[in-house]
Amino acid sequence: MLDCRKLLINSALTILLSTAAFAGDGVKIEHLGVDNTLVRITGDGDYLLLPIQDNVDDARIQVIVDNQLVKTFYARLAKSKTDLTVPFDLKPYKGKKVVLDIVLPQNPSERHESNGEVCWKGLEVANSFDSANTEKQFRPAYHHTPQWGWMNDPNGMFYKDGKWHLYYQYNPYGSKWQNMTWGHSSSTDLLNWTPEGLAIEPDGLGSIFSGSCALDPNNTAGFGEDAVLAMYTSAAKNQVQSLAVSHDNGKTFEKYDGNPTLTLDSEARDPNMFFNEKTGEWNLLIAHALEHEMLIFTSKDMKEWTLASAFGKGLGAQNGVWECPDLFELSIPGTNKTKWVLICNLNPGGPFGGSATQYFIGDFDGKTFKVDTDKQGNVPTKWMDYGKDHYATVSWSDAPDNRRVVIGWMSNWEYAAEVPTVQFRSANTLPREMKLFKDADGEIYLASAPVDELYNLRGNLEAEASRATLNATPLNFTLPASTEGLCEIEVSFEASKNSKVDLTLSNSKDEKVVMIYDSNSRTMSFDRTKSGITDFSTHFPAVTVAPTHEKDGKISLRIFVDRSSIELFGNDGRFVMTNLVFPNEPYLNLSIAASEGKAKLNNLKVFSIK
Ligand code: FRU
Repeated sequence: MLDCRKLLINSALTILLSTAAFAGDGVKIEHLGVDNTLVRITGDGDYLLLPIQDNVDDARIQVIVDNQLVKTFYARLAKSKTDLTVPFDLKPYKGKKVVLDIVLPQNPSERHESNGEVCWKGLEVANSFDSANTEKQFRPAYHHTPQWGWMNDPNGMFYKDGKWHLYYQYNPYGSKWQNMTWGHSSSTDLLNWTPEGLAIEPDGLGSIFSGSCALDPNNTAGFGEDAVLAMYTSAAKNQVQSLAVSHDNGKTFEKYDGNPTLTLDSEARDPNMFFNEKTGEWNLLIAHALEHEMLIFTSKDMKEWTLASAFGKGLGAQNGVWECPDLFELSIPGTNKTKWVLICNLNPGGPFGGSATQYFIGDFDGKTFKVDTDKQGNVPTKWMDYGKDHYATVSWSDAPDNRRVVIGWMSNWEYAAEVPTVQFRSANTLPREMKLFKDADGEIYLASAPVDELYNLRGNLEAEASRATLNATPLNFTLPASTEGLCEIEVSFEASKNSKVDLTLSNSKDEKVVMIYDSNSRTMSFDRTKSGITDFSTHFPAVTVAPTHEKDGKISLRIFVDRSSIELFGNDGRFVMTNLVFPNEPYLNLSIAASEGKAKLNNLKVFSIK
């Protein structure tokens, strides 16, 4: 009997030792029960590397430092295979005792011992983390992406001292939505983005949802003239609004100790604030998500807010939830007048399903937004972009030269978590310059033109044509193979009545994107149903259609082709379509034809991307 017990203890010890031997360097792993494991950090490297499997459920990870719970986060720890590895930063805890208490997801009906999971072998303390790109096929070459992990909304953008700061909804611990944190990148030219790390991380009030930043040169909030103020939604069981302040140009933020600064008794998020020079007060818009309205507040000090009005009930597209507002003033070209633009992102309910950005034009007196009506007295629904992959679009505050530059999330909640990339998920759109224009019937619209900085991306002129008659026989061009098809296509044509002009991008696998201008309906369409990999979601194959806002058939396009996206800007941004595509090989052929009627090609140029 005694011997038998000894044997049992011995074999238990062997199991324990062999488990520890399997684990990576610098950790000691102790399995406590079917689904609970303690990981002690025994090495002194900068990072704990976590093996992640994209399609399993989240494990809950509690970080205990010197016996205190300092952080809880969630990660899809690998069960049968590792899709990507993400770093957990140990630097803040140097010299302290760190233990991770991990609870793995276990389906009660199929409970099993978790000590066989792949993640235990891969956990490792290391001095460096390799963030080199592993997504050669689909990671955009000239759009902003996170180095690894999930990204949704761009938010909190501001410009200061020559730098464009871009924050974004970020999960550093996997490529699906979770652990919402503000990631940070910066750029001096709106083209090249430098990763700046994590700016605002979850805390006791919840995870950090979207919000905005603004400078406070007059020190109205009392944090100093150099302060960069951030407002964001703290999201836990409910959503409340919080304030944080940076004194190092947005690199790090200190949270205000009186948070939350604003609470409401119903779902409200994505605070967007700006200092209104005309009234000398702060204005704040918050999306009253389920009520389909934007709440407008005023404040003198950014801490006490007074509700001034609500805008939107019954207006525009009302489906889904209203999210991510913005409000800014633009001049009406050719006049000395201005109008205000109220941006309202909504999901679902976009013109082609899922997420999209609508906007309203009107006047704003610092308290109330009064929307313009058309000649019939109606408020028409206006979309900023007629593609499927343009969401959560908001603008940079404090931009130089009175510029109003926006950027959007280049995906759609319908399938963002399913797109065929794993190291990272989602890119942002190219930055766009906001301008007002009057269309042929006198109505004011918002144009989204590519920012001028994008001309600097142009490399060699790879193909060119001018003054040709277009008919049913296509003119063919080759896109630059040296840049794997990455290019900007500039084309202008004049279509006769009852004509269709087709532009087709294709590859040798007969995968194609077909863009058709129709002079009858005054529309441009974009068909990605045969564009390559489309079967990861039934929502992905789609034809999107934009009104072109002209009456003369004169169209000039700038089409930006990146590895997994196409952005088509028409007539200086008067119509835009942003659509993701996942071709199995790059599109290297371009053809243009008048499939119906006829048209005159004025000019076509293909530039490689530098
Ligand atoms: C929009 C949104 C926001 C929210 C954020 C959370 O895509 O739902 O309303 O703040 O994403 O990540």
